[in-house]
Amino acid sequence: MERVNPYYPIPARIKKIIPETPNITTFILDGKPIEFEAGQFAELTIPGVGEAPFTPSSSPYGGDLEFTIMQVGRVTGALCALKEGDLLGVRGPFGKPYPLRDFEGKDIFIVGGGVGFAPLRSLFLALVHNIDKYRKIYIRYGARTPKDIVYRQLIPTWEKLPSVDILMTVDVDDESWKGRVGVVTVILDEIPVNVKTAPTVVCGPPLMMKFTTQKLLAAGFNDANVYLSMEQNMSCGLGKCNHCRLGKYYVCKDGPVLTWKDIKDIEEPFL
Ligand SMILES: Cc1cc2nc3c(=O)[nH]c(=O)nc-3n(C[C@H](O)[C@H](O)[C@H](O)COP(=O)(O)OP(=O)(O)OC[C@H]3O[C@@H](n4cnc5c(N)ncnc54)[C@H](O)[C@@H]3O)c2cc1C
Ligand code: FES
Repeated sequence: MERVNPYYPIPARIKKIIPETPNITTFILDGKPIEFEAGQFAELTIPGVGEAPFTPSSSPYGGDLEFTIMQVGRVTGALCALKEGDLLGVRGPFGKPYPLRDFEGKDIFIVGGGVGFAPLRSLFLALVHNIDKYRKIYIRYGARTPKDIVYRQLIPTWEKLPSVDILMTVDVDDESWKGRVGVVTVILDEIPVNVKTAPTVVCGPPLMMKFTTQKLLAAGFNDANVYLSMEQNMSCGLGKCNHCRLGKYYVCKDGPVLTWKDIKDIEEPFL
C-alpha cells in the first residue's frame, strides 16, 4: 500500500463557506481528503503563511470534511480570508480518538464553550450515528452573546432527537434571547446523569475548561471520566518537535483529549 508522508499536506478544495458568527466560519471541503475518528485533529496549511491544528466538526462517518474556525491570528486570519473554490492543505489525522467503546450504555454529558462546540459537534454526530448504543446525550453550551452561538441553524433539529437534551446559556443576552444568561457553569447546577459512571467531555477556552472541570469534579464526576480537549501549541503533530509538551504527555500524540486523571498533577494545565 502507498505510504502517505505525514508531513505532506493533501490539497483540498473549499466547497462551501458558512459564516457562523462574526468571527467563526465553517469550511466544508470537497470530499474527504483524510479519514478521522471523533477526537482526532488535523493540521490545516496555507502555503506561505503556515499551519495550525483544528479538529474536524463534521461526522467521522461520511459526508464532506468540515472545520469550524475562529479567527484569532495569522493562520486563522488567512484561512478566514479564503473563498469557495480556493485550495488549502490538510495533514492528519493526528492524536487519539475518544474511547467511544467505554461510553456505550451510559449517559454522556458534553460541555462546550464558544468555538469549542466545533470538535464536540463531530463527537456528537458520531454518537448520534450509533444512538442506540448510548443512554442519553446531554449538551450544555455557553457562548458570549446570542450572535456568538455556532450551528444556530442546526441546533433546533438536534433538540428534536429523542435521546438528546440541549441547554444553552449566553454571558450577555439581547432582546432575541429567551434562554439562560450567565457563564456556562450556571447551567451545571443540575446534572441529570449518574456522575459516578457517566463520561463528561469538555472543550472550550482555557478559563472555561478550568472552571467547568472544577464544577464537574465538585458534582462528583470521576477523575478518569472527565475528558478534556487540550489546545497546547503544536507544530509537527507527530510527537517529534516537543512544542505540545504537557507534563509527561505530548498533546498531539497522547491527546488532544486527556482525562483529568491524566493531568491533575500538572501545575496550571489550562494555560
Ligand atoms: C487539537 C486542537 C484542535 C483545535 N481545534 C480548533 C477548532 O476546531 N476550531 C478553532 O477555531 N480552533 C481550534 N484550535 C485552536 C487553533 O489551533 C488556534 O486558534 C490556531 O492555532 C491559532 O493560530 P493563528 O496562527 O491564527 O494564531 P496566532 O497568530 O498563533 O495567535 C494570535 C493570538 O491569538 C491567540 N490565540 C491563539 N489561539 C487562540 C484561541 N484558540 N482562542 C483565543 N486566542 C487564541 C494567541 O495567544 C495569540 O495572542 C485547536 C487547537 C488544537 C491544539
Ligand atoms: S506537535 Fe510536535 S511533538 Fe506534539
